[in-house]
Amino acid sequence: MTTRPLLVIILAAGKGTRMRSARPKVLHEIAGRSMLGHVVASATELGASAIAVVIGPDMDDVRREALRWAPAASIFVQEAQAGTGDAVRAAGPAIAAHDGDVLVLYADTPLITVATLGRMRERLAQGADIVVLGFRAADPTGYGRLITQESGILVAIREHNDASPAERAIEFCNSGVLAFRGQNLSGLLASLDNRNAKGEFYLTDTVAIGRARNLTAVALACEESEVLGINNRVQLAEAEALCQHRLRERAMLGGVTMRDPASVYLAFDTRFGQDVTIEPNVVFGPGVEVGERVTVRAHSHLEGVRIGDGAQVGPFARLRPGTVLAAGARIGNFVEVKAAEIGEGAKVNHLSYIGDASVGAKANVGAGTITCNYDGYFKHRTEIGSGAFIGSNSALVAPVRIGVDAYIGSGSVVTRDVADGDLALTRATQDVRPGWATRFRERMARIKAERDARRDGRKGGGGDEHH
Ligand code: UD1
Ligand code: MG
Repeated sequence: MTTRPLLVIILAAGKGTRMRSARPKVLHEIAGRSMLGHVVASATELGASAIAVVIGPDMDDVRREALRWAPAASIFVQEAQAGTGDAVRAAGPAIAAHDGDVLVLYADTPLITVATLGRMRERLAQGADIVVLGFRAADPTGYGRLITQESGILVAIREHNDASPAERAIEFCNSGVLAFRGQNLSGLLASLDNRNAKGEFYLTDTVAIGRARNLTAVALACEESEVLGINNRVQLAEAEALCQHRLRERAMLGGVTMRDPASVYLAFDTRFGQDVTIEPNVVFGPGVEVGERVTVRAHSHLEGVRIGDGAQVGPFARLRPGTVLAAGARIGNFVEVKAAEIGEGAKVNHLSYIGDASVGAKANVGAGTITCNYDGYFKHRTEIGSGAFIGSNSALVAPVRIGVDAYIGSGSVVTRDVADGDLALTRATQDVRPGWATRFRERMARIKAERDARRDGRKGGGGDEHH
């Protein structure tokens, strides 16, 4: 069966006042990506040949976010929120220019799967003119009810406010996702009116209008969790939990061991090789790619990082954007790394900050080493050669280069380059005074004893003690 070219129209004009946020609702994030980003990415993955996003006035940041995920998308502004039908009409030029099927998605319903959308497309290819995605609602209040005949044939969608008591008893609800055989859509939209409880142009009225024109509408069902619409931050957290559950499951089925999956937070794009182990309480921000046989130990935070095979991270490590760990590298506890390449088998095991740096293969960076990369105005780079040994508690003041196999004495503040194979140390020479400590202790003990004796003498002689 061949599916026709697909235009996806994404409705994102709602302000989302119930989020109580300065940010438009659809820019709030789930697993490190905006809701809008999730929906646009699904449209792309579905193979859409065109994407149109309908936004409200003054939503430039929403426009930018849509274009970030689909640079070729066309953006339409719906001037006033006059209903879902009016919103789709706003994308009229895209519909007119398109020859094929049209799918309407909501930007605030981000968990819809590409598999489900694919099923809708197939129903169109099998001959349906309109396909509506429905679900059995635990609580149908507020949703449009799907009024069906035998075998999924859809007669009408009745909005909650317009429904009779008998219709309100129907639990099969409209998810809001509708698909159309495109050639009919412009005509259907032209026939919408706003004579209803809300005074809006309902996209859902296309079903009854289509039926009167002998078009076939059908309803498909999916799980309620897939069409969870987000209106407030409680629902945002629910969607996050569902999304995390999916991402963890996919990771584990792909060969990742998680001792406590519920405490591991993934991003939409986290990628893992086989036989990775993630200990509890690890957070992945966007842009992390993990190689094979990597262990990420408890309480680590990673974002924008590439990790080579067999590397070890944490516990309590923070890897920030631009970090690249080569195979077998080790980052230990309380180490922060930013915009730095750590070479094969190199070790930064304790209490360090490595930023804007490169650390050569097999180098050993001692406890408490700091790359001083910022002078208050500019960032500078530190280069540490392969096999170099940086003694504990050293400060490497960038820009600076430590040569191959060089040594830095502990506690040094290195401000100039160190050549290959050299030792550099900047601390003061150790001054030793033989027997000084013993003599000091003896003298102090004697003075203290003499004072105590004098005080006791005074107490015994007088009679005027005060408390
Ligand atoms: C809509 C459906 C209802 C369905 C429910 C599922 C209609 C008439 N009703 O109702 O059958 O059960 O969704 O959640 O379609 N939007 C615009 N411009 C507008 C109006 C809405 O862009 O003028 C966008 C909103 O931002 C939102 C989506 O369309 O993303 C749905 O709008 P909303 O007002 O939430 O519709 P519901 O009343 O929930
Ligand atoms: Mg709604």
